[in-house]
Amino acid sequence: MKGLQFFIIFIFTIVFSGYARGAVTGQCSVCHTMHNSQAGTAVARGGSGVGWDASGNLTGGSLTSTPNDYLLITNCVGCHSSTTASTIVNVSGVTIPIVYNSVPPTTPLAGGNFYWVVNSGDAYGHNVYGIAGADATLTTAPGRNIFGCANSCHDTLADPPGANNEQRGGCQGCHVFTAHHDDSKPWYRFLKGHGQPPFGDPLNYADYVVGVEDSDWEATTDPTTGDHNYYKGTTAQYSEGNALANYKSITAFCQGCHGVFHGTPDDPSPGDGMGTSSPWIRHPTDIALPTTGEYSAYDPTGAGYSTEAPVAWVDPSNPTRAEAIVMCLSCHRPHGSDQPDMLRWDYTQMIVGSGNTGGCFTCHTTKN
Ligand code: HEC
Ligand code: HEC
Ligand code: HEC
Ligand code: HEC
Ligand code: HEC
Ligand code: HEC
Repeated sequence: MKGLQFFIIFIFTIVFSGYARGAVTGQCSVCHTMHNSQAGTAVARGGSGVGWDASGNLTGGSLTSTPNDYLLITNCVGCHSSTTASTIVNVSGVTIPIVYNSVPPTTPLAGGNFYWVVNSGDAYGHNVYGIAGADATLTTAPGRNIFGCANSCHDTLADPPGANNEQRGGCQGCHVFTAHHDDSKPWYRFLKGHGQPPFGDPLNYADYVVGVEDSDWEATTDPTTGDHNYYKGTTAQYSEGNALANYKSITAFCQGCHGVFHGTPDDPSPGDGMGTSSPWIRHPTDIALPTTGEYSAYDPTGAGYSTEAPVAWVDPSNPTRAEAIVMCLSCHRPHGSDQPDMLRWDYTQMIVGSGNTGGCFTCHTTKN
């Protein structure tokens, strides 16, 4: 009986491993250093250029006698970087998703990659502390939200941790809280806001994204077997404020910093927001993908799902055609991409009458 039980648990794990990413696995020593000292030398690595090499060693930057919080061997950027083209590295049984490669990544993960913001220019990604200096063109988030937060992550993600960014900034401007050992948190990809003023208990506040996480961060995808992320969307009309806590959609997360690009009319000022129906004044998000007209030809529920122009769902665990939702990530990669404006495809190829496919034409199926 014992054997059978284990077999059933094993099968269960295989079947459901595609639906949620677990906590970290592997030897403590891959990620932690107890005293930041080994054979009398520092172990922690900092500075620019830190990353995993082809032999599974953390290289680049320099050894630093300044220890890290939680006894970690390096910081967010260092551990999620590689000097190879691989976006998943395996070190002694630990699987590490890479978001910044110092050479062009072979298969960028779902969020894209910070390679291009460094090598192609500021418009190719979010400028994040530890990877890129402040954006030379954008001194604040375009469509910035109305709330105070002066000189905060709403203006730049390139500042070092300090008083203006709650000692976070950089990666943690978006991944404000992390929980690498805790499977019980409902946060999709550690996308958890900082709580609402007067803040109270920000860690346990309800402002987080939900969704169904692909087990390899979309390093491989196969719509025919449902192998991809499932994002949360909503058809509720909302403005700036408590939308992330109320709806938990990926679009509500982006509008936390880019509020003017979403929202009902005149939110927060005349001419802001996207409108409530056609004619729209900004490209709509968190609206249903119509089942009629040119949109009827895109059925993302099964094999037809496009990872190039994905949709969100009212219920990510139970996707239905009528509840497919347009979202910010239908067109953008949040970390960065090989296209300006962090777009998911080459916008210059979206030409009326060209016969081209994909990109905008995935939904606007008769405009090509
Ligand atoms: C793959 C990397 C990795 C491995 C392996 C790992 N940790 Fe961690 N650990 C982290 C990170 C990153 C944090 C930072 C805090 C967070 O995000 O929760 C952390 C935080 C912690 C914390 C403080 C926060 C908490 O959740 O309690 C403890 C304690 C801890 N680790 C113990 C261990 C022990 C013991 C092992 C080995 C059995 C281990 N870790 C293996 C990455 C790792
Ligand atoms: C020492 C290595 C290490 C450090 C430091 C580290 N991470 Fe991670 N992180 C990992 C590993 C390994 C995983 C993959 C865990 C798994 O298998 O699900 C991960 C996963 C993640 C994920 C994806 C979570 C998911 O649901 O799939 C995010 C987002 C993330 N880390 C952000 C951060 C941020 C932000 C920091 C800094 C506060 C950080 N990490 C520091 C090793 C690290
Ligand atoms: C914590 C605040 C914050 C959040 C959340 C945020 N952004 Fe941004 N975003 C910024 C800032 C600041 C800039 C301008 C500086 C830069 O490009 O890094 C920016 C710039 C951009 C740009 C223009 C890039 C360029 O350099 O020209 C795009 C596109 C963008 N964001 C999309 C998104 C999307 C999509 C999301 C949701 C996944 C999102 N942002 C979430 C702060 C944020
Ligand atoms: C502008 C907000 C933003 C910033 C800044 C940001 N991330 Fe993310 N990150 C996201 C979003 C949104 C996702 C989910 C992407 C998806 O599922 O399509 C994500 C996903 C991830 C993942 C899972 C892999 C993937 O591509 O899905 C990791 C690991 C991660 N982020 C680490 C980091 C690290 C490390 C940094 C800093 C170098 C960082 N992030 C900065 C928004 C951000
Ligand atoms: C239908 C595709 C599409 C959707 C959906 C979309 N965007 Fe964009 N976005 C674009 C394109 C294309 C550009 C390039 C400039 C333009 O044509 O407006 C852009 C540009 C941007 C910029 C840069 C503006 C500047 O001044 O440089 C930001 C920031 C941005 N988008 C954020 C968002 C956010 C946040 C959302 C969700 C609320 C979103 N986008 C939804 C296609 C889209
Ligand atoms: C994920 C599906 C999707 C993608 C991808 C997409 N759109 Fe849209 N778009 C829509 C939907 C849905 C509407 C709203 C239709 C309605 O209200 O009937 C819309 C509305 C518009 C409108 C305004 C129409 C109006 O009636 O006011 C324009 C213009 C537009 N899209 C252009 C683009 C361009 C250009 C791209 C590529 C950069 C793009 N769209 C990508 C789904 C999409």
